Amino acid sequence: MSVTAQSDPENTCPNAFIEVAGVAKTFGKVRALAGVNLEVEPGIVFALLGPNGSGKTTLVKVLTTLLRPDTGTARVGGFDVIGQASEVRNIIGLAGQYPAVDENLTGRENLEMIGRLYHLGRGRARDRAVELLDSFDLSDVANRRAKTYSGGLRRRLDLAAALVANPPILFLDEPTTGLDPRSRLNLWEIIKDQAKQCNSVFLTTQYLEEADRLADHIAIIDNGAIIQQGTSQELKDCCGGETHVKMRLADRTQMQKALDALREIAPENMYQNPEMGEISFPAPDGTAVLSTVVRSLDAVGVELAELSLKEPTLDDVFLAITGHVAEEVPETDTSMKSGSG
Ligand SMILES: Nc1ncnc2c1ncn2[C@@H]1O[C@H](COP(=O)(O)OP(=O)(O)O)[C@@H](O)[C@H]1O
Ligand SMILES: [Mg+2]
Repeated sequence: MSVTAQSDPENTCPNAFIEVAGVAKTFGKVRALAGVNLEVEPGIVFALLGPNGSGKTTLVKVLTTLLRPDTGTARVGGFDVIGQASEVRNIIGLAGQYPAVDENLTGRENLEMIGRLYHLGRGRARDRAVELLDSFDLSDVANRRAKTYSGGLRRRLDLAAALVANPPILFLDEPTTGLDPRSRLNLWEIIKDQAKQCNSVFLTTQYLEEADRLADHIAIIDNGAIIQQGTSQELKDCCGGETHVKMRLADRTQMQKALDALREIAPENMYQNPEMGEISFPAPDGTAVLSTVVRSLDAVGVELAELSLKEPTLDDVFLAITGHVAEEVPETDTSMKSGSG
């Protein structure tokens, strides 16, 4: 049976998708997964969005056959992750949260070695490495040892490594956590490209913005359970995860005047805090609203002390769904970085 992803653009995406039913996993007293149910259609970018400790990596490990669930079933590409683990492994690629490349090999050697592990043959492995180095913009550093790579370069190499065998289903566990904004943008482009080539991408992230930019479908996980899912727009509509324009008046006695003036550009959902002289409302068009606000208020002689755009955060969505902020579950492993989000 051939499991190579088809590159014919007219071809429908390979029928590889993910079905999870009642998957639970406990580590000692910690219930990492509390009965996860999920269906992911083929050929899309799917994002599992959740804070640190919510169970993302555990679910990825179950789906990539690295961890056996206590109960429940999971199928990837139609294959059972327990009963047909090797079939599953044949059709997936995994780039973990922590890069798994061999530090002492060059980028090129890493990719060639993986190609050989997949029995591509010497020539094909070499060609595939060149292809990937090129498409991941790593050709310039191809002959440097991986240990000299920056964080962004490493992630790209790790992702390239996951793609050597051209798997139709790609798992990416927090692909951009800890990267600087430019490397992140760069990786986003690469990930989007994968879906265009008809690969199914299952990624995890702590960032709503990342899910928003990349994913066709998003599921939110909290305390080991899926608490909400839908398209990015559906989540924002249901859960208040929208960009807001926020302002503080120089003189809070002008509140009513300001509200009246803004009514025309923000007909609904205006939030006000009269004591602080603050007003905010959803601004789906982003920065364009700023000049409109300034003009409207200027016309009625209202002065602003502060004006800003507030991007939606995972916290906003969490707050709306759960009524509590997305607190980090205390980790047994305290080496995790803190203060994200
Ligand atoms: N091997 C393990 N042993 C003990 N606890 C674990 C283990 N793996 C994960 N956990 C715990 O399970 C919960 C979920 O972890 P994880 O799936 O890594 O979350 P995430 O990837 O969303 O940060 C956390 O509380 C974590 O500390
Ligand atoms: Mg994780």
